[in-house]
Amino acid sequence: MNRELSALALRQWLYQWRQWGRELRRYGNRPRFLLPWLWLKLSYLLDSPYAVCRRYQRRIKAENLYVYGETPLTSLELIAEKSAVTASDHVFELGAGSGFTSLWLQGVIGCRVTAIEQIPLFCWRLHRTIRRMKMSTIDVRCADYCQSSLVGASVIYLYGSNLDDSLITLLAGHLATLPLGVRVITVSYPLQPYLEQPAFVLTDQFAVPFAWGEAEVFIQVRSDGAIT
Ligand SMILES: C[S@@+](CC[C@H](N)C(=O)[O-])C[C@H]1O[C@@H](n2cnc3c(N)ncnc32)[C@H](O)[C@@H]1O
Repeated sequence: MNRELSALALRQWLYQWRQWGRELRRYGNRPRFLLPWLWLKLSYLLDSPYAVCRRYQRRIKAENLYVYGETPLTSLELIAEKSAVTASDHVFELGAGSGFTSLWLQGVIGCRVTAIEQIPLFCWRLHRTIRRMKMSTIDVRCADYCQSSLVGASVIYLYGSNLDDSLITLLAGHLATLPLGVRVITVSYPLQPYLEQPAFVLTDQFAVPFAWGEAEVFIQVRSDGAIT
């Protein structure tokens, strides 16, 4: 078991370094993204986002400590393209984690971002980066996304593959109160099966690579009387 965990950790570590190389090659020519990315990466050099999340899970006495994951930015680019996210959007990221995805959305796409995250250290480090880099179009909220107001969102991004069904049901109910036309992007599951009333139309579904393999991404649009 220990050997399996070590092999998994090594694979994860190698994947991460390769992924950083890919991200640097692809987005390294965009100073608006590169500088905040480097600054935030530095703050996780000795204390990875995975370790931060594990500490938090231990502190709240969660059953599973290994729930953290990040969207590879090259996959986020595919997702943003397919869901037509543009500079005029306001993306709410539910569970922003360390915040690299929010930095990418703002620095590469140029849209407004509200990053909602429950782990205070993630929020604090992202907030410090934003302040240092004088980025005014990312708002960080240290809050529970099931309780947080989503007013102003034109796009929602949710990567929470490990959420249990009762939480997804609660969240789907919260998202069903969004105004018509808002696009909701989810990884691993669509929202409509968790709702009794039709609230979302599924407009696209495709697979993108994540650290642990391929994940299905669902793009749904908030619409009244929707039938998926
Ligand atoms: C799988 S990570 C995704 C990180 C990032 N969105 C990405 O795609 O790279 C999920 C994040 O959601 C956060 N989270 C889970 N439940 C939450 C809640 N109810 N409110 C706010 N954040 C939450 C976790 O702390 C974790 O950082």
